[in-house]
Amino acid sequence: MQTVRKGLEGVVVDETKISQIIPETSSLLYRGYPVTELVGRLSFEEVVYLLWYGDLANPGDQKEFEKKERKKRPYLDQNVLTFLQSMKDSHPMDTLRTIMSYWGAIGYPWDDSREERLEKSLRFLAAAPVFVAAHFRLKNRLKPIPPNPKMSFSENFLTMCFEETPSAEVVQLFDKTMILYAEHSFNASTFAARVISSTTADMASALTGAIGALKGPLHGGANERVMHMMKKVDSPRAAEKWILKALKNREKVMGFGHRIYKEQDSRVPVMYECAQRMAHIEQNKKWMEIYDIMEKTMRREKNICPNVDLPAGPLYYMMGFDIDMFTPLFVISRVSGWCAHIMEQRDNNRIIRPLSAYTGVESRSLN
Ligand code: COA
Repeated sequence: MQTVRKGLEGVVVDETKISQIIPETSSLLYRGYPVTELVGRLSFEEVVYLLWYGDLANPGDQKEFEKKERKKRPYLDQNVLTFLQSMKDSHPMDTLRTIMSYWGAIGYPWDDSREERLEKSLRFLAAAPVFVAAHFRLKNRLKPIPPNPKMSFSENFLTMCFEETPSAEVVQLFDKTMILYAEHSFNASTFAARVISSTTADMASALTGAIGALKGPLHGGANERVMHMMKKVDSPRAAEKWILKALKNREKVMGFGHRIYKEQDSRVPVMYECAQRMAHIEQNKKWMEIYDIMEKTMRREKNICPNVDLPAGPLYYMMGFDIDMFTPLFVISRVSGWCAHIMEQRDNNRIIRPLSAYTGVESRSLN
């Protein structure tokens, strides 16, 4: 009898040089650097360069890289606007998945060189925030704002969403969340991207599949569910009772648990710090008070720790985003990690094709 490793738990499917999770020390390293060291010291764009090229850029190369990204931010022409307008009432993840597929289907002939893959990666990295921001505005019956090539990735994105550029501190907090969400080894969406790439299908197919995988509440969709849950709880006084009831009903509490981390998700302390800072800026303590009680109760009752989506939910809410936009925010960052993995997969490819243990009816015949 073959051994089935349900959910591929504990299975090592390939090698990677992009990132490493060390559960024993609750740490995450991008190309060898602890992510906690990168946050606050580097910009998101510098981290993307690191993920894609394997090393930090010298100042000249970094400048060139950023210039290219800014140039690739798409102009919102009539075709794109009509497309987004037709989906303005759809869930932003569905819209993003669809328009990224559309974006991959136009303008680029088939070419499989490494240079072309880097160009395409930049093209998707630059386009995703423009689409997410434009959809956010259309959904709220506001006029989309075109990208500004003079602004950094995060500053530009926030300005396209809110028209007014937030304070430098808020821009930096957002940029930190982009770094924290950028990459996380062979998670479900990254693995989906690698499976699709392993067939030698194009990048847009792999990214579209990855977006679909990220949408699920057990993965990236959890950050939206966290905020819906906190809004239902609504007051710190109700938080403990709410958790106890959910556990009694054997419900999964969103924003808690992780396949790999058992003590602490490496990204939580920094994301939590950002959320606390945002609560201070907004002078709104409620959500983080709810957070603290939920965390305490989950640890006491089940010894399960928060994952990155627990602080991300209230943080993005306090920044002014609609809840259904939280997972697309995850996407605009994670495109960087997905592209790094797609390129790594293709540099040393073998089709991913596991086995299954058949448990259906025994062999039979029509005769
Ligand atoms: N709430 C309540 N119980 C949880 C839990 C949660 N969020 N996460 C795990 N558990 C419990 C399970 O019920 C199970 O208990 P049991 O052994 O008594 O049946 C045990 O912990 C193991 O959980 P399991 O679902 O098998 O772990 P997994 O590795 O397959 O799943 C997650 C990992 C992340 C999918 C899971 O923890 C989860 O669903 N979390 C909520 C969604 C979420 O926040 N996702 C974002 C991940 S970054």
